[in-house]
Amino acid sequence: MKNLNLVGKKVPKLCCALCFVLCAGVAEPIGSNEEIIADYFYKLNADPKNPKKKINHSKGFCASGEFIPNEAAASRFNIPLLTQKGEVKARFSLGGGNEKQSDNSKVRAMALKIDSNGEQWEMAMTNARVTFSKNATEFIKFFDLQLQQKNKSLTAEQIAAERAKVASFVNFSKEVGSLPITPSFANNAYHSVHAYFFEEKNGKKPLAARFSFVPKSGVLALNEEELKKLGDSFLEKNFKKEVKKAPIEFELELELANAKDDLKNTSALWMGEHKKIPLGTLKISKFEGYGCNKEVFMPGVLPSGILEPKDDIFELRNSVYAITFGRRQ
Ligand code: HEM
Repeated sequence: MKNLNLVGKKVPKLCCALCFVLCAGVAEPIGSNEEIIADYFYKLNADPKNPKKKINHSKGFCASGEFIPNEAAASRFNIPLLTQKGEVKARFSLGGGNEKQSDNSKVRAMALKIDSNGEQWEMAMTNARVTFSKNATEFIKFFDLQLQQKNKSLTAEQIAAERAKVASFVNFSKEVGSLPITPSFANNAYHSVHAYFFEEKNGKKPLAARFSFVPKSGVLALNEEELKKLGDSFLEKNFKKEVKKAPIEFELELELANAKDDLKNTSALWMGEHKKIPLGTLKISKFEGYGCNKEVFMPGVLPSGILEPKDDIFELRNSVYAITFGRRQ
């Protein structure tokens, strides 16, 4: 794809139609960034036999539990959701759009809906601390390369050379390279990636922070031999076994931004020491089947006292979720 001059602009439908006429059949993506990105997901992941499937994170299952806020956090922050125990709906999934994907892969995800004290907080996280793009242009470039790989219009070497030119792609690839293949969804940390803003009761400027759910049972890695024995489908089985014995637990903690951290770059790690603040404990206690695969977990649903990120991906991301959710109805 040579020309992405529409990136960054919302283009009215009439204008798109006109452009198609003027460009006389040149197959450049046209539309708003949100629509272009949603279309890429369908070009890469659609299954004609199952047009209503989730187009990303397609393989997953549902669970439920509770969130128990930390008392010190409840008194420090101006966040009513933290003042009492919350009900939790969770979805655990693999990264990617293939429903039959092997569990012998690295990217694991946890999406949550916390409901407490009349407030809702939704999130969709993976075990990677950064994402592969910090804006729409990079996102589209990344997906375009994937599509060219699928269509075989570029060689593996050409794609690797293109990827090496973009710092965000390199950062993400290093991050995924460093992830272990874990035996259970209970053995990953799940990360916000974006920096949010948390209001304190002292009326000072809200605290900028990323957040993570840190597993009480630790991050564990499977070795080659164990992986061979486990085959392609072990995560759901292990999850069911685990929750029968005891709830799976995670500590939710904030990682406060230091002055030099870039709050807008979702593809850069924050380096060095960071102050942590515990917010509470997530306890997942029950397998709930697959009904939530029909739902959407919208990172833009935030409780009072937590303000949205200021990066160039957050709003875009929410809009794309709304489009793909719409197409699934
Ligand atoms: C512009 C950036 C992003 C785009 C366009 C995007 C796109 C999507 C889409 C289309 C879906 C399926 C939505 C649906 O129909 O239900 C999805 C699901 C998901 N995304 Fe993203 N995503 C973005 C960034 C991220 C980031 C940064 C993370 C990790 C922090 C993430 C984690 C997830 C997870 C966990 C799900 C599955 C949620 C579920 O279980 O229902 N995404 N994403």
